[in-house]
Amino acid sequence: MSQGPLRVNGRDCAVQAAAGTSLLTVLRNDLGLNGPKYGCGLGQCGACTVLVDGVAARSCALPVEGVAGREVTTLEGLGTRDALHPVQQAFVATQAAQCGYCLNGMVMTTVALLRRTPQPTEAQARAALSHNLCRCGTHLEILAAVQAAAQ
Ligand code: FES
Repeated sequence: MSQGPLRVNGRDCAVQAAAGTSLLTVLRNDLGLNGPKYGCGLGQCGACTVLVDGVAARSCALPVEGVAGREVTTLEGLGTRDALHPVQQAFVATQAAQCGYCLNGMVMTTVALLRRTPQPTEAQARAALSHNLCRCGTHLEILAAVQAAAQ
């Protein structure tokens, strides 16, 4: 059992979880943060993406003890319903969502991309999102959202 403060969305959160429990499980089941989604559970689809120290990471593949002392940001830490983050605004404006299941990962990965590359080319955006899967096939709208967010 590992205990200890986990820094999530700017707050210290006390958690108790067995060693090896995924960060995704703790976020969703213990902290009630359901922005990150469970897709494949294998680090391959991107639905569970969060930021760890500002870098996109697959929370299903991270043991919670591995992020002790680091800053975790989930979708809930970006914006609010009344004050969306600019990337969220761009996804809404371009109607990038279809079923919406992948959007957490698309948005979080885009936020990380724009932090390191504020004006990405389409090729850079495609590369950054190439491992985030969308089964509805709305990739063109998602790429448009990335470009809109970069304006
Ligand atoms: Fe984590 Fe698919 S659920 S990458």
